[in-house]
Amino acid sequence: MKSGLEDVIAAETKLSDVDGATGRLIIRGVSLDDLVATSRFEDVAALLLDGLFDEHVDADSIRVRLGAARVALFQHVEAADAVLLALPPVDAMRALLARVEDGENFEDAIKLMAAPAVFLPAVLRMQKGDKPLKPDASLSQSADILRMLTGRVPSAEQTAGLDAYLVTISDHGLNASTFASRVIASTHAGLTSSVLAAISALKGPLHGGAPGPVLDMLDGVGTPENARAWLSHALDHGERLMGFGHRIYRVRDPRADALKTVLKPIFASGQADQARIALAEAIESAALALLHERKPDRPLETNVEYYTALLLDALGFPRNAFTGVFAIGRTIGWIAHAREQTLDGRLIRPQSRYVGPVPKAA
Ligand code: ACO
Repeated sequence: MKSGLEDVIAAETKLSDVDGATGRLIIRGVSLDDLVATSRFEDVAALLLDGLFDEHVDADSIRVRLGAARVALFQHVEAADAVLLALPPVDAMRALLARVEDGENFEDAIKLMAAPAVFLPAVLRMQKGDKPLKPDASLSQSADILRMLTGRVPSAEQTAGLDAYLVTISDHGLNASTFASRVIASTHAGLTSSVLAAISALKGPLHGGAPGPVLDMLDGVGTPENARAWLSHALDHGERLMGFGHRIYRVRDPRADALKTVLKPIFASGQADQARIALAEAIESAALALLHERKPDRPLETNVEYYTALLLDALGFPRNAFTGVFAIGRTIGWIAHAREQTLDGRLIRPQSRYVGPVPKAA
């Protein structure tokens, strides 16, 4: 038995490869750097879903169909009552998503990619007491998400920033939420069920729930000069530094640098507070130095969540919504893996070793 299934190969996939030793991520044959430089949400959806459905899949038709699906799905927002809106945003979004009928065809996939993009901004607005904004089918998925969130058509840099984020996190091997998606798919329950299970796995702080706490850490540290003392104190009290460490990467997470690159134009153009990025860089240096001193045998480097926190904050998402934004991007990967599992895989049913008491012999 391997605790946490570490190093256990539990699926074959053509979707993505994470090389933790060299810090390389490949998505369907394309390196992450190239993908981020050339793709929007719709492009990476076309890339990941190609060949997994009966229909031909291309980015332009995905854009049109996503726009129509966002408009059609807006009717479900009416179901958001006071009980639902009292939940954390990712839970409220998941509850609305459970209203989408289970299915296995490409239109079901389109609905599931569009649904979190509509529900998350709507929930966030309603939680503030504002009216939710109707989707605009003429916009790209990323531009429409930001418009539904803020009420303003975003700048080119902001749209590019969100696209880069959603592309960066679209798929990442057999992580916990993707595994959950494949387990559900292996029972042929349907794509909505897979995505719901995956969101439930994602929201934990050891997986996709870390970027909110990264900002709490930045606020706690306050100034670059305070970084080492604050972080030392946290480590002395057995806390983990959010945004550092990864089960697979033994070097820097390549997604961290991809996001740092798209952050720069947003901060440089005055659309976010320049001091924030300087503080983040100071904390990152201090955290890496401390982690290397204290855990010399365990390489602990910056992970994707660190610069995610800065980017999503700069784009106007509240920190309690970050996991929901992660889900918008990763839904593409969850659907692709679910389809791959359904098409090629068997029912996933591992064994456990019983270590409890046995009945006394008569
Ligand atoms: N800060 C301080 N110490 C750490 C950190 C951290 N961020 N990460 C790992 N360690 C320490 C552990 O305490 C452990 O020490 P020990 O052996 O003395 O007990 C050692 O390093 C090994 O840690 P593991 O728990 O074995 O590492 P694992 O591979 O299980 O965990 C994880 C990976 C969960 C990401 C971990 O590094 C962590 O908790 N990081 C902080 C949360 C975070 O950033 N999560 C986002 C991950 S990225 C993603 O999922 C999208």
